[in-house]
Amino acid sequence: MYLTSIKHLVKEEQYRKTKSIVEKFGEPGGTGELLQKKLLEKSDNTHNWVYDYWLDDMYLNQRLALPVNSNPAMVFPKQDFRDHKDSLRFAAHLITGVLEYKERIDTRELPVDFSRGQLAGTPLCMKQYYRLFNTYRLPGLKRDTLIIHETGSTEQEHIIVACKNQFFVLDLVVKEKKLKEMDILTQLEKIVKMAENSEERQPPFGLLTSDGRTEWAQARDVLIKDSVNRESLAVIQKCLCVVCLDDPSGMEVGDTSRALLMLHGGGHEKMGANRWYDKPMQFVVGEDGVCGTVCEHSPFEGIVLVACTEYLMKFMTGSPSKMGRATSVSELPTPRRLLWKTTPHIQGLLKASAERLQRLVRDLDMDVHKFEVYGKEFIKKQKMSPDAYIQVALQLAFYRCNGRLVSTYESASIRRFHEGRVDNIRSATPEALAFVKAMTDQKTSNSDSEKMKRLWDAINAQTNSTIAAITGMGIDNHLLGLREISQEIHMEVPEIFTDETYVASNQFILSTSQVPTTVEMFCCYGPVVPNGYGCCYNPQADHLLFSMTSFHGSTETSSAVFIKALDEGLVEMRDLCRKRNKPQSNTAAASKAVEKSQGAGKNE
Ligand code: COA
Repeated sequence: MYLTSIKHLVKEEQYRKTKSIVEKFGEPGGTGELLQKKLLEKSDNTHNWVYDYWLDDMYLNQRLALPVNSNPAMVFPKQDFRDHKDSLRFAAHLITGVLEYKERIDTRELPVDFSRGQLAGTPLCMKQYYRLFNTYRLPGLKRDTLIIHETGSTEQEHIIVACKNQFFVLDLVVKEKKLKEMDILTQLEKIVKMAENSEERQPPFGLLTSDGRTEWAQARDVLIKDSVNRESLAVIQKCLCVVCLDDPSGMEVGDTSRALLMLHGGGHEKMGANRWYDKPMQFVVGEDGVCGTVCEHSPFEGIVLVACTEYLMKFMTGSPSKMGRATSVSELPTPRRLLWKTTPHIQGLLKASAERLQRLVRDLDMDVHKFEVYGKEFIKKQKMSPDAYIQVALQLAFYRCNGRLVSTYESASIRRFHEGRVDNIRSATPEALAFVKAMTDQKTSNSDSEKMKRLWDAINAQTNSTIAAITGMGIDNHLLGLREISQEIHMEVPEIFTDETYVASNQFILSTSQVPTTVEMFCCYGPVVPNGYGCCYNPQADHLLFSMTSFHGSTETSSAVFIKALDEGLVEMRDLCRKRNKPQSNTAAASKAVEKSQGAGKNE
């Protein structure tokens, strides 16, 4: 499968070399067999043989800054706040919803999710939900650590409120009573007042969390020499979530600018320092109505984030604010401002972090686009999988812009398995290449029936890869497992993993993910390589929403150009479908792949 996935993406000579390396690796009694045996032993002794390898490889070993490069954001609908107080009421209501949701998590009340779409109806692992509010990504010099607090721990009875780059502790339990919404609002009002007091203002320490992971870890080592800083860091580490009360950004409030503000806060001159990027759940409530969440990604996937935020959105619109009080105002202690000890050296570190964040802000090229010609219902009517269709359209757009296909990542949920996260659907299939060539070849004009056949081939290949990946038969996690176990047994890295094809095949120039929502909001994230695109899409019944990102620094990419090509391709694909009906039923191939892959692992 690996060879098939890369053959059409590399030069012939390189492919021949890779093929011989792979064949040697797979020889009976060879390295592959030995590593597979070790991996099977590991699988016998762990719930999920790939989980730790995957977490390290995907997140904890990565050294790039969290904003843009790693943390996804969920952008809420723009809110129309009448005044500043209105935004605080919204924040208090949101926090009340968070507490209600957290309670459901702690009491194990959340109903088990079942898969939808392909192979619908299988129960899914719920573990990611139990890591929404009790985790923290601690920076390390070489590798970060995902800290997991015990669920329902009494240490976790506060949230951190960020306001004007200051951080405040909002205790949620006072004299053994849980604060009610009115109490929370009162506390938020006090926080805003305290933040306005410029005499007590602390330096913008949140900036350090926006830096590269090694840089932040080095800075943290300096900070913790002082007990005041140590104490502030420890309190943040244990909070349930961060709520960022943002000043108006001054930007025009469209989809793209709201997405930018969620991903990086607009840099240190805007809201970029009013964040603590290590904390997995960070809510933003802007006075100008720009609201959403920005998340540290290592504990959970976008789909779990959607479930949580949709619950909150429904809570916000469905249940009126209950402005009762648990505690009399006089009993409410003043929220505590977190203090920092700074030195000229630390000031220098803050300045360097601010500059690096600014570079990231300037570099991000973002385009949030609503394709309104049709949505997933049209695609379903063609008897095609909407997800596969959109993936093929992305390949067509990339080919139009670059004249080639590249290694592509599409996240496939493997929550059918205990502790399952994702594997990769490699969407740049040979069939996709044949289709995009048929659609774009100027010299030989292909007939519509030829193009339609190629479209069906591409859709079927994509659907089959999806089914393989979600049932644990993807190749990326398996190869990662073989690679990592070779290190565990102190073997020299096998050639298959140092080969330039393997290295290139893991540089995902196109990094894509479907994050569908049922209420009005959308997800976005940045590219994973400097010359790449990040594409998060949200298929709706009558339209498709794309959040496209790339970097201005690359001369090979442009989000606007890509979106234009995508628009054109989607219209051409619709015209083709309208002209030609499906030539034959191809679902047999997909069903066969399902049968083959079922029972492939320990089902949840
Ligand atoms: N004809 C008609 N309808 C079809 C069809 C066909 N041939 N194939 C699929 N459909 C329907 C499905 O029944 C489904 O219907 P619904 O809207 O009523 O539920 C709908 O089309 C969507 O199915 P499809 O487009 O095939 O996609 P999917 O929902 O199976 O999703 C993945 C595919 C890969 C996106 C999904 O399995 C997955 O893994 N999602 C998680 C991704 C993730 O983790 N993202 C976050 C990363 S941070």
